[in-house]
Amino acid sequence: MRGLFITVEGPDGSGKTTQIKRIKEYFTVKGYEVITTREPGGTRIGEKVREIILDKNHVEMDNITEALLYAASRAQHVAEVIKPAVESGKIVICDRFVDSSLVYQGVGRNLGVALVEGINQVAIQGIMPDITFLFKLSPQIGIQRKFKQGNEDRLEREKLDFHQQVYEGYMQLETLYPQRIRGIDASKTIQEVHEEIVRYIEELLEGRG
Ligand code: TYD
Repeated sequence: MRGLFITVEGPDGSGKTTQIKRIKEYFTVKGYEVITTREPGGTRIGEKVREIILDKNHVEMDNITEALLYAASRAQHVAEVIKPAVESGKIVICDRFVDSSLVYQGVGRNLGVALVEGINQVAIQGIMPDITFLFKLSPQIGIQRKFKQGNEDRLEREKLDFHQQVYEGYMQLETLYPQRIRGIDASKTIQEVHEEIVRYIEELLEGRG
């Protein structure tokens, strides 16, 4: 049986990493084979592309170059990891996927969602998540958390206005794809957020029979 492709999206610093670990545990205990991965990156080649994208010194990077690099990392990731794993019945949990490009490059960088969707169509080979958890947290709080940690990357260094636009982009996506995208209030406790996610996963599993 085909596995599941789960993605987690949301502003920087919204607590995705902790929850991904919890989702992995949930499936592992139930006996599923689980892979956790991330974008940009997730493969040897993709991690190299990630370094180029997020390098704080690359201040001259053109927006189209940025969008293409994210898509390039994604193409490798889909071909090498996501597609084979899902086809062989595994659960793949991915920290960010194409929705990130739609909102960061499409909306935040103003390239337009349609253009970024077009670029990514080639990269994703028709693979879309079965479910996407969208962590909702005000961009102010998320970015403050990142700066406190003191290792903000090139995108996190963008002005608050950029992050605000990204956030609004996410809200629009949620309205566009209500079946796939499940909004989660990320200001709740770790346990509360986890329980909400589990409820959605159980719903999804029941739907598959
Ligand atoms: P990520 O590794 O998720 O950073 P963090 O763990 O700090 O949230 O992503 C790195 C940055 O890249 C993040 O600011 C979001 C951005 N990004 C895009 O702009 N487009 C994309 O397609 C992806 C996958 C990420």
